[in-house]
Amino acid sequence: MAKIYFSREFREVEVEEGEDLRSIALRHGINLYPGMLKYLNCRGRGFCGTCRVRVHNQEVASEPTKVEKAKIPQTDPSVRLACQCFVYGDCEVQSFPRVKQGWMQHKVYQHLVEE
Ligand code: FES
Repeated sequence: MAKIYFSREFREVEVEEGEDLRSIALRHGINLYPGMLKYLNCRGRGFCGTCRVRVHNQEVASEPTKVEKAKIPQTDPSVRLACQCFVYGDCEVQSFPRVKQGWMQHKVYQHLVEE
């Protein structure tokens, strides 16, 4: 068993190891999608890129898939697609992470996305 702590929701859940974060979140009523994307997502196939989360303990997470690497900018390795990220131990997960993209990658704007 692994303990997953969803930090924005202040919820800790116990799950079987090797399960993907999207399934875990949905089963426990934790929303990962902004607005209408709750209904208009790819249902865990890795195509839409809307289920982004930040995983704070990367050692217990699976390696990023090819699909995931294509969807997420490589500037922040802790940001993952929940549907492509399988967890094998205790970790903390943050939904709706701020991601440094485009002009926000410039160091002048770093303070806007730091947490
Ligand atoms: S649900 Fe579409 S990429 Fe995860």
